[in-house]
Amino acid sequence: MNGNQARILALARGERLPREELARLIATRSPEDCETAASLARETALREFGRKVYFRGLIEFTNYCRNDCLYCGIRRSNRAALRYRLSEEEILLCCRWGHEQGLRTFVLQGGEDPYFTDERVVSIVRAVKAAYPDCAVTLSIGEKPYESYARFREAGADRYLLRHETASPAHYGKLHPPEMSFENRVRCLHDLIALGFQTGCGMMVGAPFQTPENLAEDLLFMQDLKPQMIGMGPFLPHKDTPFRDEPAGTAEDTLFLLSIVRLMHPRVLLPATTALGTLLPGGRERGILAGANVVMPNISPDEARARYQLYNNKLGTAGAAADNLAALRESIRAIGYEPDPGRGDYRWEDKQ
Ligand code: 5AD
Repeated sequence: MNGNQARILALARGERLPREELARLIATRSPEDCETAASLARETALREFGRKVYFRGLIEFTNYCRNDCLYCGIRRSNRAALRYRLSEEEILLCCRWGHEQGLRTFVLQGGEDPYFTDERVVSIVRAVKAAYPDCAVTLSIGEKPYESYARFREAGADRYLLRHETASPAHYGKLHPPEMSFENRVRCLHDLIALGFQTGCGMMVGAPFQTPENLAEDLLFMQDLKPQMIGMGPFLPHKDTPFRDEPAGTAEDTLFLLSIVRLMHPRVLLPATTALGTLLPGGRERGILAGANVVMPNISPDEARARYQLYNNKLGTAGAAADNLAALRESIRAIGYEPDPGRGDYRWEDKQ
């Protein structure tokens, strides 16, 4: 047995590998290693979740952003972005439609838009929870002070997604403007966990300047943080950003990392991302077969979906939301899995 097969089996047994071993595994993995990891990861997901894939309704409610992340299409310096915001009423209409479709988690995602003050966010969360008490609300609206997160939690928000982006402070500095810091990012994640949010972190695979050592650090960071969710997709360049000419991450790397993450976090909620589906036809389905167990169909209004471009050629921006959702359900069934309409909460009770 070669070193990588042994490393993958060690991860599947729950062992912690040192950074150099993880970096070596990532740097030297063969197609056969990918297959081994995928089949073990798929078995792990089947054991923990059965043949279920959780569906989360994603509502992108604003693409205004005060931040200037170098990779992101809605960064404030992108003058070409057509900006929009949804009103509370429009957000509730998305939820109404999603609820009729059977969705029981709404992910409210947006840029860091100063228009959406804590008061406005609290009002939206309260309104969604009052109208749909059987649903989970996930926020994904970036870095805030502890007090703001506490108010969102008090208003009833259940979950929060904030990708850490990279666990290397030096790499973080190459992807973000000087006013942002890895330290504050991590502070946010610890605050969210302390407040009892089901919390998600994650990173892009193939981000500019990323090395196998960086990814190994990401894996160790996540092993220590123990998030309930991990969002991980390929980097895809956007034409109106400084990274327009950088190569995209690869589907193979992304699928391999998904499998490794599943082995290291048997119960984590792990989306097969839209970015993966954009990079590779059938990419989300491949993600499920490599150990992912969540998809996040976009239920934003049609006009909004076209404008929320973190990267170019985003999947699901054309066509009606209803058709996209139906097609995704069908393609999940076609690989032998069942779309799960439930809230799909993280199983705290038997956390290892
Ligand atoms: N390619 C892929 N993912 C991106 N994100 C932002 N820009 C891009 C891009 N160009 C991801 C970031 C962010 C999440 C909302 O989307 O990781 O946290």
